[in-house]
Amino acid sequence: MKYGRFDNVNKEYVIERPDVPVSWTNYLGVKDMCTVISHNAGGYSFYKTAQYHRITRFRQNGVPLDRPGHYVYLRDDDSGDYWSVSWQPVAKSLDKASYECRHGLSYSKFLCNYDRIRAEQVLFIPVDDDVELWDVRIRNDDSKERKLSVFSYCEFSFHHIDMDNQNLQMSLYAAGSSFEDGIIEYDLFYDPDAYHYFCGGFEPDGFDCVRDRFIGPYRDESNPLAVEEGRCGGSTELGGNHCASLQKKIVLAPGAEARLVFMLGVGRRKKGGEIRRKYSDPSNVDRAFDGLKRYWRTKLEAFQCSTPHEGLDTMVNTWTLYQAETCVVWSRFASFIEVGGRTGLGYRDTAQDTMSVCHTNPAKSRQRIVELLQGQSKDGYGLHLFEPGWFNPAEKSKKPLKSPTVVPQPDSADIFTGLKDVCSDDALWLVATVCEYVKETGDRDFFAETVNFADSGKASVYEHLRRILDFSARQTGPHGVCKGLRADWNDCLNLGGGESALVSFLHYWALNEFLEASEFLGRTKDVKKYSAMAAKVGKVCEEKLWDGEWYIRGITAKGKKIGSRKNAEGRVHLESNAWAVVSGAASADRARKCMDAVDEHLYSPNGIHLVWPSYSKPDDDIGYVTRVYRGIKENGSIFSHPNPWAMIAECRLGRGKKAMKFYDALLPYNHNDRIEIRQAEPYSYCQFVVGRDHPAFGRGRHPWLTGSAGWNYVAATRHILGVRLSFGGLIVDPCVPADWKGFEVNRKWRNADYRIVVKNPDGVEKGVKSMTLNGRPVSGPIPAQKKGTANEIVVVMG
Ligand code: GLC
Repeated sequence: MKYGRFDNVNKEYVIERPDVPVSWTNYLGVKDMCTVISHNAGGYSFYKTAQYHRITRFRQNGVPLDRPGHYVYLRDDDSGDYWSVSWQPVAKSLDKASYECRHGLSYSKFLCNYDRIRAEQVLFIPVDDDVELWDVRIRNDDSKERKLSVFSYCEFSFHHIDMDNQNLQMSLYAAGSSFEDGIIEYDLFYDPDAYHYFCGGFEPDGFDCVRDRFIGPYRDESNPLAVEEGRCGGSTELGGNHCASLQKKIVLAPGAEARLVFMLGVGRRKKGGEIRRKYSDPSNVDRAFDGLKRYWRTKLEAFQCSTPHEGLDTMVNTWTLYQAETCVVWSRFASFIEVGGRTGLGYRDTAQDTMSVCHTNPAKSRQRIVELLQGQSKDGYGLHLFEPGWFNPAEKSKKPLKSPTVVPQPDSADIFTGLKDVCSDDALWLVATVCEYVKETGDRDFFAETVNFADSGKASVYEHLRRILDFSARQTGPHGVCKGLRADWNDCLNLGGGESALVSFLHYWALNEFLEASEFLGRTKDVKKYSAMAAKVGKVCEEKLWDGEWYIRGITAKGKKIGSRKNAEGRVHLESNAWAVVSGAASADRARKCMDAVDEHLYSPNGIHLVWPSYSKPDDDIGYVTRVYRGIKENGSIFSHPNPWAMIAECRLGRGKKAMKFYDALLPYNHNDRIEIRQAEPYSYCQFVVGRDHPAFGRGRHPWLTGSAGWNYVAATRHILGVRLSFGGLIVDPCVPADWKGFEVNRKWRNADYRIVVKNPDGVEKGVKSMTLNGRPVSGPIPAQKKGTANEIVVVMG
């Protein structure tokens, strides 16, 4: 079943049936203020962090599943009939009203036609102002004059996720609201930083700030009393639950249109006044919207492709990059599933996500990299989950929040809890990310920059990377394989503290990435030292981890091999086999064999399973994964994040058809017409798709915040299309299905344009026969060309 379609011209996803099985969300905001919004205008806003600075409330895990929201109600003041511009919350019958939601790049548009009134509500946050604008247009398509009331509605949160959910005997009396000069101000009296405002670019005819006054007793957002009665109550209060409703009465002649702009912002009434003046002028609203469009256009222009695969073009050119950027900008802690309560940066997640957006967001990438380096101990491991603010003197010097509800603040001494809480993979991901950043920007001096360690001391970025590699070299078990410690990439596979094949492969990969950097920097001593280390790690991998047909996943503390032919359950694991190949550690023969095993045992038309057979009996020597229901999450679902690793592995093997088979299976675009199974949005990768050992096989869960966005982007752009960077320059090394006759990529790199035309006259899957740059034959990486130049690279495969 189909609920919507991709509009490639406007770069929007158009939801034509609002009764989708689950909320389909979008993200507004590109800097400090963010709103997670559903296709029904449900959702919540926060400023900088979803944990500590919530603006509007979300009733997490509730029914309906996306309440409350940022709603606009319309009421016919003659008949008393009312509805909302988004289908929910009033939910008029779909026989009588038509609705459309267009999720675009950092904006969402809601459209409704009901009773000869056309209404539109566009929500977006301008690039440079911490305010969400609700640009509302109402047109009278009737032949007679219509008298309408327009009401805004959103519900404020108690600022802090904990305060919003706990100790309400205190929290309920800590927030107040007032209305003056046309502006609602919402305050948290105890916290001088927590003020929000709501206003409109017009003089309102009424207002309500007290939620329960607006909604009325025994009602909810679907039938608020104030809307039913056609009159806001002018309520404000110190203490209680608060909302922002402004009422505006309009009279529309036949064919006439009204435009009302509402503003929900961060700051006091004074700030609200300034913003109100600015956006009362609709041309400033239009300018801000154009600014947002420009912001995204500039990003997207960094990489655009045109291939024989429409789904790949749609996803790579817009949606997958958008999802990857969302993960980097907002971290992984704000969605309808991640609703605060965890915050900051997940070390491994951020290190991986950042790798994919160095070309579109170099400034944020740099910021994230530095934050991660600051979260690294001098011993070389990363703090699994941390707040960048802990290591930022400006943040640290801020007075602690005087919350009426006690919120424990970690003491520096509590941050380091020892190896028992260290994940063995966390910092290894960062090595390639730092290299990618330098390859993209050419900022070679970044390696020499000094950054503090989380515990004590400081060193150059380069030295930070050396310590990461040395840490893994020290942390090996009885077989010489890297220890898994608390866990590796797979949070649920703890191996009782045994050895992890995946981490040894990651170590090998990181060493080789680092070696490219040390060669580039002319650090010959290090080239020698780390080449020897890589050779040793490679040898251990080949000697200890091969199982005959594929690679094992690890060895438990008690010495049992996991991911072996001899295991009844958990015989084949995706991560270790894909990384054996991606890292380059596997010999050619074994690489082919183990990827064939992945295809044979783990592949399905919905994507590649993480493990087969899934575990049915708890076994604490293996880990928590054995206590997860079969077919779900780490226990045999199609965990999306590692799927692109298999695609990259296939590209290394030169098997373009296979890489595309894997890409296509997971691609949300390809599931657009079977939403009754997938349920989740077809424009976003999900953390996992339920596996074949569960009756809900094919159901997508946890959209948006997943490493699959960045990695699928990397797999498609850098490995399938093969346009990637080395320290020496730009490489074009495609690996595509043989029936692709060619494709084009437009890439911006260090302020020059590259139009890359790939031809495949012989119908091969991999291999480059010839390459020209601006008509001249070239071989090897293409160095950065002069700023401002437009260049053409023609590649003939064969
Ligand atoms: C979640 C975590 C990620 C982990 C993965 C597998 O996506 O955010 O860090 O690698 O699960 O356990």
